[in-house]
Amino acid sequence: MLSRSLAAKEIMKKLVFGILAPASALGLLAVSALAQQGDAGRGKKMFVDYSCYACHGFSGQNGPGRRLVPMKMANVAFTAYVRSPGTNQMPSYSAKVLTDAQLADIWAYIKTLPDSPEAKDIPLVQQLKAEAGK
Ligand code: HEC
Repeated sequence: MLSRSLAAKEIMKKLVFGILAPASALGLLAVSALAQQGDAGRGKKMFVDYSCYACHGFSGQNGPGRRLVPMKMANVAFTAYVRSPGTNQMPSYSAKVLTDAQLADIWAYIKTLPDSPEAKDIPLVQQLKAEAGK
């Protein structure tokens, strides 16, 4: 009888852990998914504070650095690049300077920056071209 109830306890333990462990793992996944989405509002401030704007422009598409808009890199690739750009034209930002979560925020902010219109969609450009007979 005693051993039977012990066995029952064991089964209960397994059941509880079998349910709780995966549930908490899911919770962690949800948290990391949130962190990866980033917060564009916080990212905007860091884009300025960490001088990204100095080389990439406030619009993310002017200045001596490369265009960042439209941002086609996934968050992971973006973070990897900023950690080690592999060029001496851009400083590398280690995890001590900007955490993964902070870079996710900057990435999220860049994602919100509007792309500039095509020349064909700018009336003034079309007008000038027409006047120049081109
Ligand atoms: C001192 C100038 C400078 C600063 C500051 C700078 N960058 Fe750059 N960045 C560059 C240059 C130059 C390139 C292009 C390098 C190349 O083509 O080899 C680049 C490229 C990039 C790219 C790759 C774009 C692509 O499509 O390949 C990303 C992403 C990027 N920068 C993000 C950032 C972020 C985020 C910050 C701020 C945390 C930042 N940069 C700060 C100069 C800078």
